[in-house]
Amino acid sequence: MVSERSAVQAEVLVASNRGPVSYGLGEDGGLTAKRGGGGLVSGLSAIGQSTRGAERLDEGQRSGDGQADAVWVCAALGDGDREAVRRTGGVLDPGDTGGQRVRMLDIPAEVYAAAYNGIANSVLWFVHHMLYQTPLEPVFDAEFRAQWAAYETYNAAFADALAESAADGAAVLVQDYHLALVPGMLRERRPDLRIAHFSHTPWAPAEYFAILPDDIQRQLALGILGADRANFLTRRWAENFLACAETGLGGQCERVRPEDGAPGIVALVPERKARTTWIGVHGLGADAAFLRERAHRPDVEERMTALRAQIGGPDRKTIVRVDRTELSKNIVRGMLAYRQLLADRPEWRERVVHVAFAYPSRQDLAVYRDYTAEVERVAGEINAEYGTPGWQPVVLHVKDDFARSLAAYRLADVALVNPIRDGMNLVAKEIPVVSDAGCALVLSREAGAHEELGAHALTVNPYDVTGTAEALHEALSMDEGERAARCERLAAAATALPPARWFLDQLQELRG
Ligand code: G6P
Repeated sequence: MVSERSAVQAEVLVASNRGPVSYGLGEDGGLTAKRGGGGLVSGLSAIGQSTRGAERLDEGQRSGDGQADAVWVCAALGDGDREAVRRTGGVLDPGDTGGQRVRMLDIPAEVYAAAYNGIANSVLWFVHHMLYQTPLEPVFDAEFRAQWAAYETYNAAFADALAESAADGAAVLVQDYHLALVPGMLRERRPDLRIAHFSHTPWAPAEYFAILPDDIQRQLALGILGADRANFLTRRWAENFLACAETGLGGQCERVRPEDGAPGIVALVPERKARTTWIGVHGLGADAAFLRERAHRPDVEERMTALRAQIGGPDRKTIVRVDRTELSKNIVRGMLAYRQLLADRPEWRERVVHVAFAYPSRQDLAVYRDYTAEVERVAGEINAEYGTPGWQPVVLHVKDDFARSLAAYRLADVALVNPIRDGMNLVAKEIPVVSDAGCALVLSREAGAHEELGAHALTVNPYDVTGTAEALHEALSMDEGERAARCERLAAAATALPPARWFLDQLQELRG
């Protein structure tokens, strides 16, 4: 397949559903840009630090030959984004993106909704996080097939845009389950490119992945195996992917272990194309320098004062959690564990507050709206049951506010991170880095972060409410010296692979 090339050819391209900026549309028609953060943003801004990246960037800038250092391709997510694409032709103002070159794709709204809400968030997210209540769901019927066709169209739009914007032999880093078909599609369009795929989620065990229709399993496996490198957050997810690829391709692939036995690297050779895809593990860490600086700015101090007032009494301990209101985060069982703690250990009443931030997420999906309502209902019940005039047992905030999250991180005595299943969970890594007095971490064994942090945390089975209540008691009772020492070890492990390094490692590996 021959593809059109655009005027600007990039050496490095990143593709993800959600880009580094999104736009709100005011009633007066004005657009307000809201910049995001995260590992990719730090990683891309660090490209200039990599030797080869810096050389190429200089060459491109000197020659003025239409070479760009990096381009980020993402989707328009809502009306504001669509309007921004309409006004700019999709090449966004670098002033809005922090200097980043961004190409935003306006995929027709109904195609986008079917791909994003229908397939990505209601099927692939559910499979990898094992969220289905299987007696009634999933149902793979005609509606599913129509949504799958939209998912293919949406992936093809990304593959087209990447093929147009990539310089010869460019490195393309494709992100997450939204774009699982892109590596295969892009390889067909541009065999010269070096392509990586990164899964930010867990990967399902083979027996669970087998819920999906056979042809869909095969398409997903072949999609990702179109990449030269398929990267994961932990070895466990990488192993699951290998097992699923073997099942999905019905034995048409073979594992190859390199002779030096380098950890985490295994290869698959799909028979017909006899290509090798190298499997890698890159455990994204917290950005200590950014977090520590940001957490000491005046807006965070202000919010600490407000939170302290809500918590009350100076000697009260805090159990902090910060999540999207996401089904896999297990917020409700966390609250039930807290309720059990108050019931079984009355000595903690009036002496502890559960500070829970549950920020809106994926509210187009009814199941997420219902879950949000359930979180609010259970918090209200606990407050009604145990609250006193001077003590509100649960302080729940549902409006997203990064400065307030950092304020809670600093005040945390105990961090509660109990997901049913999670690719990594950066909150588990961030709180110990920022906590003022040193916090204890109650951590689900099913979070990817457990591989690195488990040795210094209190491990819980996320379904075991009684066990979680006991772990909360143990964490609250921990001697301050031990807590601080553990917290230091947690922070060291959490920051071992900062976002810029995480990204540059993948880029260097890809360029070979
Ligand atoms: C997870 C996914 C990301 C996604 C984020 C927020 O972390 O791995 O790809 O961007 O959730 O979800 P949303 O649907 O709001 O983009």
